[in-house]
Amino acid sequence: MKVLLCYFSGTGNTKMIVNKFNESLVSNGVETYIYKIEDNCFNYNIEEFDLIGIAYPIHAFNAPSIILDFANSLISVKDKKVFILKTSGEPLKLNNISSLKLVKILEKKGYKITNEYHYCMPYNILFRHSDNMVYKMWNTAIKVIPIDCSELLSGKDALLDKVFMGSFIAWLFRIEHWGGRFNGKKYSVTNDCIKCGKCSKICPVNNIKIENEQLIFGNKCIMCMRCSFLCNKNAIKIGLFNKWKVNGPYNFDNKSENEVDKHRNFCKKSYETYLKKSNEKIISFKNKTIKIEN
Ligand SMILES: Cc1cc2nc3c(=O)[nH]c(=O)nc-3n(C[C@H](O)[C@H](O)[C@H](O)COP(=O)(O)O)c2cc1C
Repeated sequence: MKVLLCYFSGTGNTKMIVNKFNESLVSNGVETYIYKIEDNCFNYNIEEFDLIGIAYPIHAFNAPSIILDFANSLISVKDKKVFILKTSGEPLKLNNISSLKLVKILEKKGYKITNEYHYCMPYNILFRHSDNMVYKMWNTAIKVIPIDCSELLSGKDALLDKVFMGSFIAWLFRIEHWGGRFNGKKYSVTNDCIKCGKCSKICPVNNIKIENEQLIFGNKCIMCMRCSFLCNKNAIKIGLFNKWKVNGPYNFDNKSENEVDKHRNFCKKSYETYLKKSNEKIISFKNKTIKIEN
């Protein structure tokens, strides 16, 4: 079996999920290829693949515009199976609507979406998740991914629940695609900026230029947060959303149980349900596996 995994990741969370999923596919004997959508040099023959995976971070209850542009650029096919992987900061059911537009584009071109998997990963905007929560999220994802992967390979379809008025809500929030470009022009740097050029090099859409020792932010920003999240000097101000900026990579391995979590009450029930349900899935899969061995 041959699988092509196409992904976009702003700040690395989705990339981590894709790599783990890829590991699972490979350990099941699948031949995999990974395509980084921002490289903008797609030259695979889709027809050669049994399955196509598309992975993205949820932005304002939608797929980022770079993902929709990629889907629009794909050739038409007949019944090619696609699975979707998504990451988001909170595990709200409303996030299920993020793939509706993507699915619509793909279905028009003859793709058949059979499986969707959603993993909760730390926020790269809004607030910084506590180390303990980050540890829990990642630990959950790495245990659930092999289960999802074996479900995918077994041929069992698994789509996420529908949300009432989902298409309409997603359409409303897609203002973010336009708003991101508008807001991107409002990015600026503080005096801490040393003009190292890192932001310009890592921007996935080449939106940041340095001219005459000045940083110039263009109008192509897709609000992925990579520049501000990874700025070593925390010198980038993200326009209207600056008070929600998160700077600096997360440590995914620090369990730190005694830490006081400032945001412990934010969507508390959703996180608890997500972690509980994932745990039940892990336990039930373990039990099944043990039964088969006997
Ligand atoms: C502009 C923007 C909008 C976002 N909107 C949502 C959202 O609607 N729901 C959510 O749960 N997380 C949202 N997030 C958080 C990201 O989906 C989450 O942190 C994701 O794991 C980041 O993945 P990445 O590191 O691959 O970019 C948003 C992040 C950004 C930058």
